[in-house]
Amino acid sequence: MPVVLKADGLALGKGVLICETLEEAKEGVKTIMEDKKFGTAGNRMVIEEFMTGREVSVLSFVDGKTIKIMSSAQDHKRALDGDQGLNTGGMGNFSPSPFYTKEVDDFCQKYVYQPTVDAMASEGRPFKGVIFFGLMLTEKGPRVLEYNARFGDPEAQVVLPRMKNDIIEVMEACIDGTLDQVDLQFEDNAAVCVVLASQGYPVSYEKGFPIKGLENFDGKEGYYCFHAGTKLTDQGIVTNGGRVLGVTATGATLQEARTNAYEATKWVTFDNKYMRTDIGKAIDEA
Ligand code: GLY
Repeated sequence: MPVVLKADGLALGKGVLICETLEEAKEGVKTIMEDKKFGTAGNRMVIEEFMTGREVSVLSFVDGKTIKIMSSAQDHKRALDGDQGLNTGGMGNFSPSPFYTKEVDDFCQKYVYQPTVDAMASEGRPFKGVIFFGLMLTEKGPRVLEYNARFGDPEAQVVLPRMKNDIIEVMEACIDGTLDQVDLQFEDNAAVCVVLASQGYPVSYEKGFPIKGLENFDGKEGYYCFHAGTKLTDQGIVTNGGRVLGVTATGATLQEARTNAYEATKWVTFDNKYMRTDIGKAIDEA
């Protein structure tokens, strides 16, 4: 104890119970499998080790047999500064993660990345595409929390701006099975993405406010404005979701990238604009 109980089906990310005691675990089994709190997702249940540690995201390209790791990233999932408030789809992040050390990479290369690809191939389901490894750096070493068969959001917004290769060539190498011939390279710099959200997200928020200043990003090297919850209307581009835009900037260091990203957040305005003010800050202090 503690243990983690998970409804094994799709439960919109909600079917997880952390049980501190055996009594809680027994109650949890009843909640998931008998009371069906998460519907049919609870027809089968997974019991997992409870882990604590820093989370790191690692994206990779895979061509069925070869895997090439992209630079690491770290997410800020809580809605409010200081990692307070509700969980969100991500309020910002940065790349690389200084906690993804060579030692962590060596461990994952040996025990996680290639073994994952080999296992899928040996099961007769070779995988081609992008694998997202959600890692937790625990006291016992790195552990895989989750796999996604996609880029991360907002991980892609900080990792791809640092990639030196032509992404189409890398994707074609994945399709052709020639990824071993690709020298995947990343700039020796950093990137920070600050999500501009609608006040009230992730609970309730208004939509439909005009977004001004997007043109300020035109021609600005190292600055990017990614659309998330936006909509093109006759009145121009308006807010249309909780997470509205992802503002990314690169810099020589994380600190510089952070300063640049927060400067760029001033370039766009819309009513009820909300952002965290401490993306990447814990790292300055680490
Ligand atoms: N940022 C986490 C995810 O894309 O799943």
